[in-house]
Amino acid sequence: MNAAVRAAVRTALTGGVAVAGIMRGYQGLLEADIRPLDWRSVGDIVQRAGTVLRSARSTEFKTEEGVRRGARVLAEAGVDGVVVIGGDGSFRGANELARLGVMVAGVPASIDNDMACTDISIGFDTAVNTALDAINKIRDTASSHGRVNVIEVMGRTSGFLAVAAGLAGGADAILVPEVEADLDRLGDQILKAYARGKTHYIVVVAEGFGGHRPWDASTVPEGGVFGASSGFEVGRLIRERTSVETRVTVLGHIQRGGAPTALDRILAARLAARAVELLLAGESGKVVGLVGGKVVATDIEDAVRRKKAFDRCDYDLAATLS
Ligand code: F6P
Repeated sequence: MNAAVRAAVRTALTGGVAVAGIMRGYQGLLEADIRPLDWRSVGDIVQRAGTVLRSARSTEFKTEEGVRRGARVLAEAGVDGVVVIGGDGSFRGANELARLGVMVAGVPASIDNDMACTDISIGFDTAVNTALDAINKIRDTASSHGRVNVIEVMGRTSGFLAVAAGLAGGADAILVPEVEADLDRLGDQILKAYARGKTHYIVVVAEGFGGHRPWDASTVPEGGVFGASSGFEVGRLIRERTSVETRVTVLGHIQRGGAPTALDRILAARLAARAVELLLAGESGKVVGLVGGKVVATDIEDAVRRKKAFDRCDYDLAATLS
């Protein structure tokens, strides 16, 4: 996201427009936490994960009154256009602002890659590579122990991250919310594979598989017993059905950190620059995305309504190759 912030700021400045950063997303907007940004203020951030503007989840902005107040704050601050960098929730907020006449342009950033407006969202490639690195390391000792390794990746309610990491990492099975899986069958497959002489079995599970919620500290009941994650649940069931020693690794928030890949930085630069160009040209209510290798703009209304279709091709390919 920092690469996107840098590109947005510098494209706008090049276009002769003053720029300010809204801190902590919509929550910061409601608190009028808006700070001027110049060319140097976004220096030395292109290689850093996260966002220097920080981020927050705002329940207040989800209300009609919250959005109205946000629009008022923008008008009082003399803001003519807003670039919103974020996922589906951020775009829904931007759509509401657009309905009130605020000029907005959306830039898709989410490790979940579940946004319909783009083939790939900012952060996805870095997260896939982080998950891949973990899978590689787990694979290093998997054979020595003859274990089943279950690796849970993020993705909220979608399995795009799991499929990409699983395909790249040569997973033996991938479990995603979009495809029903028969765990009895998986157990049989594991036993048959071991009978054939296989010495390890790697299962990549999306956190949303089986309808489980992502791990969240607020769901830890008193006494400290963690709520079941999809990874632990799958690991338990595999162990129960196969009696093969099974280890579970939940990658969690490490997937949201680390220096962004070149692909992510280039994507962020292209998309954010285009978003600013749209605003400079007087176009509002659009989100940008990379579709078929080209930067395209679509209506935000359409972007928030459409659900990204799950592509079975890579999922099936991973199964064929496993
Ligand atoms: O949407 C991005 C994401 O990282 C999901 O993959 C994950 O389920 C969620 O955010 C975690 O949210 P939080 O950081 O609030 O726990």
